[in-house]
Amino acid sequence: MCGIVGYVGSQSALDVVMAGLKRLEYRGYDSAGVAVLADGGLANAKRAGKLVNLDKELAERPLPAAVTGIGHTRWATHGGPTDANAHPHLDNAGRVAVVHNGIIENFAQLRAELAERGHELASETDTEVVAHLLAEEFSACADLAEAMRLVCRRLEGAFTLVAVHADAPDVVVGARRNSPLVVGVGEGESFLASDVAAFIAHTRDAIELGQDQVVELRRDGVTVTGFDGSPADVRSYHVDWDASAAEKGGYDYFMLKEIAEQPKAVADTLLGRIDGSGTLSLDEVRIPTRVLREVDKVVIVACGTAFHAGLIAKYAIEHWTRIPCEVELASEFRYRDPILDQRTLVVAISQSGETMDTLMALRHAREQGAKVLAICNTNGSTIPRESDAVLYTHAGPEVAVASTKAFLTQLVACYLVALYLGQVRGTKYGDEIRDVVRDLSRIAGAVEQVLGTMEPVRELARSLAHKNTVLFLGRHVGYPVALEGALKLKELAYMHAEGFAAGELKHGPIALIEEDLPVVVVVPSPRGRSVLHDKIVSNIQEIRARGARTIVIAEEGDEAVVPYADHLVRIPATPTLLQPLVATVPLQVFACELATARGNEVDQPRNLAKSVTVE
Ligand code: F6R
Repeated sequence: MCGIVGYVGSQSALDVVMAGLKRLEYRGYDSAGVAVLADGGLANAKRAGKLVNLDKELAERPLPAAVTGIGHTRWATHGGPTDANAHPHLDNAGRVAVVHNGIIENFAQLRAELAERGHELASETDTEVVAHLLAEEFSACADLAEAMRLVCRRLEGAFTLVAVHADAPDVVVGARRNSPLVVGVGEGESFLASDVAAFIAHTRDAIELGQDQVVELRRDGVTVTGFDGSPADVRSYHVDWDASAAEKGGYDYFMLKEIAEQPKAVADTLLGRIDGSGTLSLDEVRIPTRVLREVDKVVIVACGTAFHAGLIAKYAIEHWTRIPCEVELASEFRYRDPILDQRTLVVAISQSGETMDTLMALRHAREQGAKVLAICNTNGSTIPRESDAVLYTHAGPEVAVASTKAFLTQLVACYLVALYLGQVRGTKYGDEIRDVVRDLSRIAGAVEQVLGTMEPVRELARSLAHKNTVLFLGRHVGYPVALEGALKLKELAYMHAEGFAAGELKHGPIALIEEDLPVVVVVPSPRGRSVLHDKIVSNIQEIRARGARTIVIAEEGDEAVVPYADHLVRIPATPTLLQPLVATVPLQVFACELATARGNEVDQPRNLAKSVTVE
């Protein structure tokens, strides 16, 4: 939520910053702006709307050549998406420029104090107060990092701030509390950004900033201190993917590329975690097995698509471990005073590792004594840093705002955790684990197979572009898949879409069924749990009898559904608990194609941002 870039080196700062912003546009696209230090002064440009508007502005009114600069792409919180509210924000003398991600909660009070001291504030944002406060502090100490530390000590809320001052040439200063900020270390150049994707084309050596830290960036190195000025311990790491992973690679949209990457993402997430004999080795789960054996409840917290992964995980965890498992929206969790103790294992699922709701939920859980295991896709992000252990998903960078490959890898990680708990607690034994592991290791191939048969799904989606509503039904693990299908359609196609447990239909939602209403039904495997299968076949008949147009997703060889399917989408036969890994794929393709057919922005749906760093 909001993307930030800072650069100091010998290249054109504007080029580096603009290229970085392009990579971060998924974080927000309400406005964009840049500031550079040149000729003893500060020059800036900003525009409401997407980065392309800023590009045009810079073409018409170029900024002077510079080697130090900062930039911002915004997801609006305080103040609408206007030119005036776009970052950077400047002080009255135009010597300081600041960009910000997060919310400064005490900004109204600070603003009033500044107004009393004669400052004139031009925007409605919370950020502008920081530019004015920095200008005041800098005029007293002439040290931008020290000025930043002094200002940060007065701020409440969550913030990443990056600033330059015309009287501190070749210096960029950043500060971090609760919002992401990583440092890139190059040869004779240094970078700051919300995400390594912004500087991956220049360096893969990164430094993770901790909570309440200030970093001073110079060409020849970086200095990190706490808000109190004490030297800080930092963790350096090497990014294990390169610039090509953050490119579209010939696809029209990142989302299409990311859907296509799913077989690899699934395989990579399994890699090194199951040995040749089918035993799990999750050494990275650094919670002692003695603690895991004592766990008497698992609570999963997550948001959006990650929450749907959690709902599916519940079926696997309870089935394989017999430990009760609750799944809760992270945004609701801490407000209902949940019952947690040392024997509770909280699993926090997050692609970005920065979702504020999930972060707050895990902090609350740890305060109550629970152990927290993060499932995360972003190395060095806040959620794994603050958890007791982390199991990384290896989806690679996910750029499209709508989550696809991260979801599948979250599912894989959840299955691994469930099996691992079963293994350490002895509720799931060697042969049984080996069977599931064997099924899991074949799943990447099954996802590949589904991807090869999607043309009819795309055709169907195009034919439904004029519809207003699509419903999704499922049972058992198919129910969260239905919820995920509906979420994808809402966020991408801007259509009314709802997911229901098929058994709930008769308790109310069936009243929504009318002539030709598209209803997607995720059918469980007819093998094993045939009762479940039979029941959903009855549900399909019930809605079809009332005029619904049925779009049935069913296993190959499932003939019972054929008479009732207006459109039949085949998926490979898969054990029931693992079926979401293949059943979700057609729903992703369906939503993506509908969005395209309706002329929507696939990678950057309206009003959304990829990483939601506000509550
Ligand atoms: C939907 C989507 C969101 C995220 C949610 C959590 O396609 O991407 O619902 O799943 O905002 O994000 P993370 O996983 O980064 O915590």
